[in-house]
Amino acid sequence: MSSSLAVLSATSFSLFILWVVYCGYCLYSNYVEARKIGVLIRVIRISHLNYLWLLIDKRVISMVKQLPGPLGDNSFTRYNYRGWHEHDSTRSHDEMGDAFVVVTPDQNWLYLANPDALTDTCACNKSLNEQCNAVVWTEAASLTTEMARYWSDKQCFSTVAEDVRTLSLHILCRACFGKSFPFVGHDQVEENSPSASFRRSLLTIIDHALLILALGPKFFNKPWLPRRLRRLGEACATFKDHMTRLYHDEQRTILNDYKADSSTTLVASLIRASQHRQAGEGALTEAEIYGTMFVFSFAGHDTTSHALTFAMFYLAANPAVQAWLKEELVRVLGDRPCYEWDYHADFPRLQRCLAILCETLRLKTPVAESLRVEDKTHLVIPAGTLIIPSYVHVQKHTKYWGSEWKPSRWISSTSGQRQFPFLGWSEGARDCPGKKFSHVEWVATMAALFRDWKVDPLRYGQETSEDAQKRVLDMIETNTGYGELLLQLNDPERTPLV
Ligand code: HEM
Repeated sequence: MSSSLAVLSATSFSLFILWVVYCGYCLYSNYVEARKIGVLIRVIRISHLNYLWLLIDKRVISMVKQLPGPLGDNSFTRYNYRGWHEHDSTRSHDEMGDAFVVVTPDQNWLYLANPDALTDTCACNKSLNEQCNAVVWTEAASLTTEMARYWSDKQCFSTVAEDVRTLSLHILCRACFGKSFPFVGHDQVEENSPSASFRRSLLTIIDHALLILALGPKFFNKPWLPRRLRRLGEACATFKDHMTRLYHDEQRTILNDYKADSSTTLVASLIRASQHRQAGEGALTEAEIYGTMFVFSFAGHDTTSHALTFAMFYLAANPAVQAWLKEELVRVLGDRPCYEWDYHADFPRLQRCLAILCETLRLKTPVAESLRVEDKTHLVIPAGTLIIPSYVHVQKHTKYWGSEWKPSRWISSTSGQRQFPFLGWSEGARDCPGKKFSHVEWVATMAALFRDWKVDPLRYGQETSEDAQKRVLDMIETNTGYGELLLQLNDPERTPLV
């Protein structure tokens, strides 16, 4: 027994050594390739996108950072974790210029901060259709009205982050899957229906996305795992069951109804698109449709809700911007109730609402490190290099933007001209297909919150309004970090609003 254990340990050790040697070889080859680009280089030993590393990166880095001198302060502690951009801010490009490469064993990451190179790419808008956007508009306005009432019934509220997550998930469920849910506040009792289980399973998957990506959904079905982990397997299975049911329901509707073109959900669009194509010529399979539905659920949920949480606090700290916003809302919507707001007539006129989204994303871009753009620079880039626009640099640098959160900068007097480098929804072949969706959702939400209500920070003791506003702005700066995958406010519940 003990000799077979020894053999097993020796084999594992040898495999580990082989793996380390292999990674070292890959790192060296990538370094040689990176040198051909001719820009400054930083080397890190573990890939940014290694799923297992992503599970522990921040904890390991914060421990290594405690070591003295260069042991704790080097490229590993500076670049080898999710969210380094936020902490590094514009420093790396200030030190190394418009382009530098981070070499990893997997790939070379070329960071670009030249605004012209980044934005001069073909814009390709694949947004969901206008019928769907009209649904988003109505659903967002009515659910946000419920959320505003829920908040206003309280003396103060500290559940902005949770509540806006619920809001954006419900809007997404309606638009993508045709499932409507009433708004449920953080401390309200949730019904135990199949629809609630669909929503809960999706939320569980989103909240544990890294772990599920790292180990694969099947891993969590193992009977010997602790209950807490087996729940992830159950959530994946429940979500898949719901998707299957939705898919077959929608497919039946389309088959039975010649007017099914009027169905506005994402599932229906995918099924129709698939039917219109000839088999073998790019028609989507059922599994691909499930995959797309999941990607939309995942990509369309926390992006908007995290931005909305940031915006609530920015607005609470800036009463003058709230007044500026309200002036537009009253001018465009008058005192019409939200069910009379018209997507086609009202949405395009609510430019200040949209300006608040752009200004919030400029400073707090949730998706920081996943974009690919075409090479439009003079650099010779070896195949396989990942080109990363340095969002934080181009969107924050005071040489382009000054230092304030100032939405009015987006209301241009010379309309149609892009004045600033901005990549909130990416550009080019991999731009965000939910861009218009997120605009519509955002504008309806702002309208339902700020035409009839205003928001302030809760004041403590003798604190003046100005002190409280400054405290909120400081909190936004010090409390921003990466959650599961996206940039977010870490503990917004510690800053109640009224
Ligand atoms: C404020 C809100 C949003 C922001 C800032 C945002 C930003 C982005 C960015 C930067 C990308 C490119 C990522 C990459 O290249 O890998 C992206 C991709 C994507 N977004 Fe959004 N997004 C938002 C809302 C939405 C919404 C509401 C939906 C769906 C309803 C959506 C669906 C998607 C999908 C499906 C992709 C993947 C596209 C692909 O892989 O080609 N997004 N988003």
